[in-house]
Amino acid sequence: MLTGDRPTGKLHLGHFVGSINNRIQFQHEYESFFIIADLHMLTTKNSPDDIQEVSKNSHDLVLDSIAAGIEPEKVTFYLQSGIPEIHEMYTLLQSLVTVSRLERLPSLKDMARDANIEMPFGLLGYPVLQAADILCVRGNLVPVGKDNIAHVEITREIARRFNNLYGETLPVPEGLVGEVPTLVGLDGDRKMSKSLGNAIFLSDSPKEVEKKVNSMYTDPKRVSADIPGTVEGNPVFIYHDIFNPDKEQVADLKTRYEKGKVGDVEVKQKLASVINQFLEPMHVRREKYQVTGMVEELIFQGTQRAREETKQTLFAMKKNMGLTGVMNRMRRKAEKYSKKQAKE
Ligand code: TRP
Repeated sequence: MLTGDRPTGKLHLGHFVGSINNRIQFQHEYESFFIIADLHMLTTKNSPDDIQEVSKNSHDLVLDSIAAGIEPEKVTFYLQSGIPEIHEMYTLLQSLVTVSRLERLPSLKDMARDANIEMPFGLLGYPVLQAADILCVRGNLVPVGKDNIAHVEITREIARRFNNLYGETLPVPEGLVGEVPTLVGLDGDRKMSKSLGNAIFLSDSPKEVEKKVNSMYTDPKRVSADIPGTVEGNPVFIYHDIFNPDKEQVADLKTRYEKGKVGDVEVKQKLASVINQFLEPMHVRREKYQVTGMVEELIFQGTQRAREETKQTLFAMKKNMGLTGVMNRMRRKAEKYSKKQAKE
């Protein structure tokens, strides 16, 4: 399995239900690689300030993943920019896909729009770089969010095209999208996202969670507790459905809410407590990895391991393409020439 994230900040509940959850399960069935895609981040955020943040964000990303339940002794975390062979591979893949195929992807247009920029050349190549990430460790299974499934499709096309042109070399990976609908943010009308300021982070303290849950959007028609409220689409109940293991309590709260027999305060207090119980074991696991340098050591070692895999894949690719032969012939002829020169 291979999947990953751009190092843009801490993980929140939306990441958990959307993908981390999935990863925690798959780590037991597959040899797992998680890429920290800092070169992908550069396609929309490349200021020195953004780059300055990569070390801290990578640390937080990995620490949050471990806190959530990814087992560091089972999986490999690696930093994309630490493996120059990935961009070498990226170059070899670039001629296997057309510009118009890439231009048609809505995900790339969305990213450019969200970043308020005109499409850079690098952003157009985003899925091809992603193909290099996946193929470099010869990934078979790629669990991703909905917006990324088209990139896995491109990867499949590129791998097939490579194999057709140069002979069976690369496995054609399977993409896997989670079933869960995107988690709505605290504001109730957009997806949970760090940049929108509507997120509960996995590292939030119990006090922060209470404060955030208290501020949550509910049913605007309900100005007092005795007015019947709407449960459907109400973020407070969406979260209760996902995070509250006590289904009877949820059913009871819903019935009373619809009859105007429960205040928002009670619903929210119960929700905050449920979310805090959910996060509690994560805080405990996080503690163990707070030691300075421990997470960095993991990333460092993982990057070496993934680099070895990448070198093997790249070598096989270049060999089958006939590119290693070109250089070898140059070397042999050059050596012959030097020897002759030395004799004369
Ligand atoms: N594109 C992913 C994102 O939206 C990050 C990513 C980069 C990735 N390389 C990958 C995901 C390879 C899966 C496989 O952040």
